[in-house]
Amino acid sequence: MSKDFKIEDKIRDKLLIRKERNSLRSLRTSSNLIDFCSNDYLGFAKNLSVKECKDQGATGSRLISGNSTQFELLENKIAAFHKAPAGLIFNSGYDANIGLFSCIADKGDTIIYDQYIHASIRDGIRLSNARSFSFEHNNIASLEKKLQQTDGHILVAIESVYSMDGDEAPLEKIVAVCEKYKADIILDEAHATGVLGKNGEGLAQSLNLESKIFARVHTFGKAMGCHGAIVLGSDDLRHYLINFARSFIYTTALSEHSLHAIESAYDKLKASSDIINQLHQNISLFQSLLSVKLQSKLISSSSPIQCILVPENETVKKVETDLQNKGFDIRAILHPTVEEGKERIRICIHSFNTEEEIKMCVANLEKLIV
Ligand SMILES: Cc1ncc(COP(=O)(O)O)c(C=O)c1O
Repeated sequence: MSKDFKIEDKIRDKLLIRKERNSLRSLRTSSNLIDFCSNDYLGFAKNLSVKECKDQGATGSRLISGNSTQFELLENKIAAFHKAPAGLIFNSGYDANIGLFSCIADKGDTIIYDQYIHASIRDGIRLSNARSFSFEHNNIASLEKKLQQTDGHILVAIESVYSMDGDEAPLEKIVAVCEKYKADIILDEAHATGVLGKNGEGLAQSLNLESKIFARVHTFGKAMGCHGAIVLGSDDLRHYLINFARSFIYTTALSEHSLHAIESAYDKLKASSDIINQLHQNISLFQSLLSVKLQSKLISSSSPIQCILVPENETVKKVETDLQNKGFDIRAILHPTVEEGKERIRICIHSFNTEEEIKMCVANLEKLIV
């Protein structure tokens, strides 16, 4: 390659390719459109009252100056809510997954993951020395086949609710097959936190399966309306992560203000069963209004994430623009985020969306998606 070829040229070329493929990502500032795209499923982000906090900002990593009694009490409180022996807070769900997956399995161990697993888990696996295989999405036979081919410690990585499809993992069946092959499960509860279970405890607890899961990751950036995440598991797991999870060790700890926000969100969640019921009623209303034509394109899901397949980046982007012009903040999910041919309009339903808004949203989807 010529010495004149600069890195600036390379990045410009790569961006150009994305543009030509209609898959260029860009940032947008928030709009006044009707929210059918945020993860703020319960509206917590709109009105989370945080205790007045005149004390500490961030001061350092947890292992140096960033730890506090407040941190540890909050971890205990959240672990108790989720019926776990212990928990360790990370700065985000991305950090939690990267830290957990990169250190939990060694050479000779295997991580088997659902093909639709979140990017943060994929990245964590890439940083580990373990072997890894994917299994077909939510397919028990495919998982069992992979389990039969594996030795060493086996970890199975799944999500409660898949972020781009909105469907749930068949957790009871996965637990049964993992018990048969003595594999440990790591369950990412990001989109189930605040959504599944009477008080939003998540999928594992809604099925009384929490004791069967080796580690659960609950993120605070979706329904909880703040940011951060907790890894739940045994005391030994917590201690292990403090020693080996690099995204925990080598980063500044959350500030006191952030901890207050997380605590307020959990306090609010405990009193939110009516709001959670409203969310599920809105999801049912949305589904009941769809015509047979749209139902045939809908990815089956009972979560707030409802996706309608509209293949091809160009086509789905046009539908997105048209929906936004009609006043709805709804986003297209493009290839390469999803497989080619599986591009989609992703609608996030919230507890605060009104009946009128949902009706208008469906009426516009019917008109715009052919
Ligand atoms: C399934 C899943 N896990 C983890 C994350 C990362 O969480 P956070 O946004 O807190 O970094 C996300 C968010 O996009 C997610 O959807």
